[in-house]
Amino acid sequence: VAAVGSRPAATGTASTVPVSARVGLVGAGQLARMTSQAAIPLGVEVRVLAAGDGDPANLAAGSVLIGEADNIEDLRRLAAGCDAVTFDHEGVPPELLSRLEEEGIPLRPGAAAKLVAQDKLHARRLLGDLGLPVPAFEEMTEGVAIEEVGERLGWPLVLKASTGGYDGRGVEVVADAEAAHSVLGRGGKWIAEEFIELELELAQVVVRSPDGSAVAYPLARTVQRNGICHEIHVPAPVGAGLAERARGLALEIAETIDAVGVVAVELFVRDGELLVNELALRPHNSGHFTIEGCVTSQFENHLRAVLGWPLGRTDPRAPAVVTLNVLAEGADPLARLPQALQVPGAHVHLYGKVPHAGRKVGHVTALADQPVEALAVAERARDVLLGRSEP
Ligand SMILES: Nc1ncnc2c1ncn2[C@@H]1O[C@H](COP(=O)(O)OP(=O)(O)O)[C@@H](O)[C@H]1O
Ligand SMILES: [Mg+2]
Repeated sequence: VAAVGSRPAATGTASTVPVSARVGLVGAGQLARMTSQAAIPLGVEVRVLAAGDGDPANLAAGSVLIGEADNIEDLRRLAAGCDAVTFDHEGVPPELLSRLEEEGIPLRPGAAAKLVAQDKLHARRLLGDLGLPVPAFEEMTEGVAIEEVGERLGWPLVLKASTGGYDGRGVEVVADAEAAHSVLGRGGKWIAEEFIELELELAQVVVRSPDGSAVAYPLARTVQRNGICHEIHVPAPVGAGLAERARGLALEIAETIDAVGVVAVELFVRDGELLVNELALRPHNSGHFTIEGCVTSQFENHLRAVLGWPLGRTDPRAPAVVTLNVLAEGADPLARLPQALQVPGAHVHLYGKVPHAGRKVGHVTALADQPVEALAVAERARDVLLGRSEP
């Protein structure tokens, strides 16, 4: 473990700045960066565990520890003196989480709850056993013939790596057995599931405290392309009944798994019915709209929850909120910032990431009275950042 140069280094000893609480955050990506921003008004020191000195959160966090999320010594050092330890990704091996918990480290969420977000097979089984609606699925074990699975679930099939996937990595739609064999040949644990003819994808973000109290954000519609989220529209264009069911499902799941902090539930809509896709137990891309769009952001409420503090209100601040992700295309969005700031009403967030093509390097949010107005403002700002147009 090494400390980053110019900033006060966390080496397991407390900084001298008086703080209300200390939170250890495993990971230093954009979620950690935005969590660190939310920590400042609360007087909370966020100490991030970063993989390197160029991680997005390093400029924002109260302190930075360079280390590995799968190294127990680094995790112990992160946790030393912290009131709670939380996460911006799913990458800590579950057996390490269990060990840390046995050592008395206050993991929020705990190891058992976190596993639901780390292992898609575990999540599908747990939710299915609870009687909650999930896509039909089968575990691909030795000796299971993909031809027969395809007959049961229908072609095309969706193959999902049970662990380690994100942004569509680890999700493959395969048309036939031959294509399936080449995916499964990569090794690892796979789930096969039915291909859903999606009407819509939705995301319900809720936040739960250790005492069981919970709040729900407005339901969002998400738009994925190639498995990557591009757009978040709030409110979701669905009836009150469906929105009520989504909220109920997410709160029930959070309660059942004893989650603490943000729980984001990705949902599919098929034939007017909800199916649970996957869960995240951390701030989630689909909740970025809450920074400007709601009274309390998902990042602030995540911190409040992991510290056992009262949760803040989740009411929307405008009738329509749209967030568009900025996926790099060639121009450097950091260099285009002054032009993007000419778009009135656009809230620009840049994550400080090298703009490799296709990489999520920021997002823009706009609030308006009408969805079309919010979308137009957000699109203008995004397109300027990407170099597609001038303001
Ligand atoms: N069974 C399915 N049928 C149709 N599309 C799917 C299915 N599973 C996933 N997808 C599409 O792929 C995207 C990514 O899948 P997901 O399971 O959420 O993995 P990730 O962890 O990469 O987000 C989803 O948002 C959805 O657009
Ligand atoms: Mg997903």
